[in-house]
Amino acid sequence: MAKKLYHGAAYYPELWNEETIEEDLNLMIEAGINVVRIGEFAWSSMEKEEGNIDLSFFVNIIERLYNHGIETVMCTPTPTPPIWLTHNHPERLHVDAKGNVMSHGSRQHICTNNAYFRKRAAIITGEIAKAVGHLPGVIGWQLDNEFKCHVSECMCETCKTLWHKWLEGRYGTIDTLNKSWGTHIWSQYYHSFDQVPQPISTPFLHNSSLSTMYQLFSYEKIAEFSDEQAAIVRQYSKAPITHNSTTFFHVDNERLYKHLDFASFDTYAERSNFASYLFNCDLWRNFKSGQDYWIMETSPSHSASLESYAAPHPNGYLKAEAVASYALGGEAFCYWLWRQQRTGCEQPHGSVISAWGKPTVGFENVKEVEAARKELESIITSTRPLQAEVAITYSDRARAFMKTEPHKDLDYRSLIIPFYERVLSAGYHRDLLPEGANLKGYKLLFTPFVHYVSNDYLQQATKFVEEGGIWIVGPLTGGRTEHHTIHTDAALGKLEQLAGVETLYTYPMDGTETYGEFNGVKAPLSLWSSVFQPTAGRAVGTIWGGNSDGEAFMTEHRYGKGKIVMLGSLPSGESGDLLLKNLIDHYAKEANVQLKTDVSRGTIVAPRIGNGETIWVIVNMDGAGGTVSIPDSGIDSVTGQQLEEGQYEIGPFEHKVITFRMKDEQTTGAAQGEVTIS
Ligand code: GAL
Ligand code: ZN
Repeated sequence: MAKKLYHGAAYYPELWNEETIEEDLNLMIEAGINVVRIGEFAWSSMEKEEGNIDLSFFVNIIERLYNHGIETVMCTPTPTPPIWLTHNHPERLHVDAKGNVMSHGSRQHICTNNAYFRKRAAIITGEIAKAVGHLPGVIGWQLDNEFKCHVSECMCETCKTLWHKWLEGRYGTIDTLNKSWGTHIWSQYYHSFDQVPQPISTPFLHNSSLSTMYQLFSYEKIAEFSDEQAAIVRQYSKAPITHNSTTFFHVDNERLYKHLDFASFDTYAERSNFASYLFNCDLWRNFKSGQDYWIMETSPSHSASLESYAAPHPNGYLKAEAVASYALGGEAFCYWLWRQQRTGCEQPHGSVISAWGKPTVGFENVKEVEAARKELESIITSTRPLQAEVAITYSDRARAFMKTEPHKDLDYRSLIIPFYERVLSAGYHRDLLPEGANLKGYKLLFTPFVHYVSNDYLQQATKFVEEGGIWIVGPLTGGRTEHHTIHTDAALGKLEQLAGVETLYTYPMDGTETYGEFNGVKAPLSLWSSVFQPTAGRAVGTIWGGNSDGEAFMTEHRYGKGKIVMLGSLPSGESGDLLLKNLIDHYAKEANVQLKTDVSRGTIVAPRIGNGETIWVIVNMDGAGGTVSIPDSGIDSVTGQQLEEGQYEIGPFEHKVITFRMKDEQTTGAAQGEVTIS
């Protein structure tokens, strides 16, 4: 549980003179900034020439900030290796899939697996941790910055050698690899691990196993780099360690956070995309369960670079974002960046203060955030986010499988976010869970778009169903093995027997004039689909027209105390929206989901518990204002006013905090995260 709410900014004091720094400190106080993140690109200021490390500037600045009441998240500067590390050393640089060797000048240009880079990275990390790790101002660490944000898998010679070792570790013998990947296809057969290519340019596509495994290899290597840095920092500092990530980058976030202390993300979603902002909050809360997450970067107004810019937030939206995030489990809300860049390639980016030291278009909004932070701090720090009853699995591994097999330009994020949005806009409180998350306490679980369902996941989900949960599997789930090959026992492997179905066919339904009907709603079916024939279960969704007229695209099967529902296709269009809404409501009802609010679209309720109370933080996100129904009498925590059961209005971007006193039996349930207030 958070002890304090942070309001912060990324700060680059090494780029400014003394006078400006003094001005910054005063302006930070005025803006209500209580934490800054520093150092992530400062390697050349810390170690001008190789071996000549001087960190006194950073020690000083951290102390000065602290004396002004501002705490620091210190970073390791490894995303921007200095020229002495790269000049005349093309072999240290990142190589992309087309064989292009990166050059010095931007960031992430080096290969993070290069041995000499790792040596220098370890040295600078150790020195920084030694120099600042004990300072009272240092309350946290960020490793590097946005791993793999500009680059994906590296194809350099170092990576080639590591790849072969990784394959050997995974498969043991080349014979096993050959069999698992079916390499006699197109005569790919290998005699030794060192013959296995990297997925670089080829006349047509690579073997699916090779493409997916290379991504998983790369996921693992970047996480190992993170682990290594964390271990070094821990030798000198007790402050918790994070990394700022997103769902865009080429990392497996679940794996990445495994050995870190807290999770954090960066977001630059525009207001129109507020669902994707909330998606991050509902996901990041669950990477380190029971631990608050941080928003490490967001713009006070707009993101931009030399080449483009996004729409600035309308006034009021920033505060709505901050309130929503604090309420959904965010301990910190931090900007990129404090003072507008004078040089570089991101001068047009929104900031709190301009390069000439004046408030920007976002400044008043930042002050509004600070006012809201103060208003909410005691409420948030005495409660914690309530566990949802509805869970949706999020998997970066599934994202890798889809990158290998995108069918028609599908990408995992653009499928899962709209799917999540349906649950969100129907008013359900929800958790996005990484694959390995504990499913205890949930009632309804969705597993869409996961080509490969691991044995571990299958076991957990089965247990969840045995104990009474309803598991909705699909669309696009289960059709691939761990090697990214096709099952040969049944189209969806072991899943079929559990779900009491036989999959008759799998094929794309787009453009086939195929409709699916569930609960009286009929909609066109789309995407790569599975057509079912129930064996033990029963059909609940029928196919009309197309190549599989009369068969099932949806089935359900009682299993233990719960149920497995197979969803073989994605209903599309407006009627598809309706069908899916119907499906969600139908099974939520059957699963006895209580954590649902009657709230208009564009407004959200974030429930929290603690102190024998349930709290609702209600926020209007779309700027159109909305309504919310309160099922019981409560108290407006800000005004102290007593509110009776009924419908209330929320103005554009406004929020309300309502406290409900729990009945005794509910308080007991709350300890297990099972309380409901309706
Ligand atoms: C992030 C990055 C920052 C800055 C920002 C601009 O991806 O971590 O350093 O570039 O984007 O939006
Ligand atoms: Zn490399």
